[in-house]
Amino acid sequence: MTQNLPSVFCAIDTPDFDRAKNLIVQIAPSGCGVKLGLEFFNSFGPDGVKRIMDKCDNPPIFLDLKYYDIPNTVAGAVRAASKLGVAYLNVHASGGLDMMKAAKDACAPETKLIAVTILTSFDEPSIEAAGYQSGIQDRVLQMAKLTQDAGLDGVVCSSHEIEALRSACGSDFALMVPGIRPAGSDANDQKRIMTPQNAMEKGATHLVIGRPITGSDNPANAATDIMNSI
Ligand code: C5P
Repeated sequence: MTQNLPSVFCAIDTPDFDRAKNLIVQIAPSGCGVKLGLEFFNSFGPDGVKRIMDKCDNPPIFLDLKYYDIPNTVAGAVRAASKLGVAYLNVHASGGLDMMKAAKDACAPETKLIAVTILTSFDEPSIEAAGYQSGIQDRVLQMAKLTQDAGLDGVVCSSHEIEALRSACGSDFALMVPGIRPAGSDANDQKRIMTPQNAMEKGATHLVIGRPITGSDNPANAATDIMNSI
């Protein structure tokens, strides 16, 4: 199901269009894809995504906009965004089964739709303070199953959830994993990190890697080294 899609999506987190474009052009020969998120999208909109596709030889794009609203509204957003021709798009699983089903029905067939289970910025005290039951690990599994029941293609998860989700959700379910750091590289603000090789061995299908590539003196080499290591 993830055939022909890259194992690595490089997070391009910048409000500077030319910097984004230059980075994407530099890393393209490595074969890695591109993750564009809220910072890029709120700066440049759908037109910015189209311009990246045009100017950078149409790289596979994961558009990380994490939709969460009533089913009809999310369906409309997914319908519009998937018309851009991106490889991956996402919603929040906490929007519920009906929202995810409506989103999947609206999504263009060539775009894979995945869900965020619990944001990794939550810990047990903060999830309780937000009015949810504690037990993040159990909730992640429950929401991944709900995502699968809704017919979506996978979830975004932390590296520490890969094995449990792979065994609970089977082999035909994408696991998109941020918080990845090659051995010896700076963790930055990521608290729980894993190397690319380790994450792939545990069952990740895609890795999201930003600063180890974009903050490198030579992003092209950094991306190529990572792609060669997995
Ligand atoms: O630079 P770095 O590799 O830490 O970038 C990781 C990317 O993945 C960022 O765009 C960040 O917003 C995103 N992300 C994350 N953790 C999550 C979900 C998304 O780091 N749980």
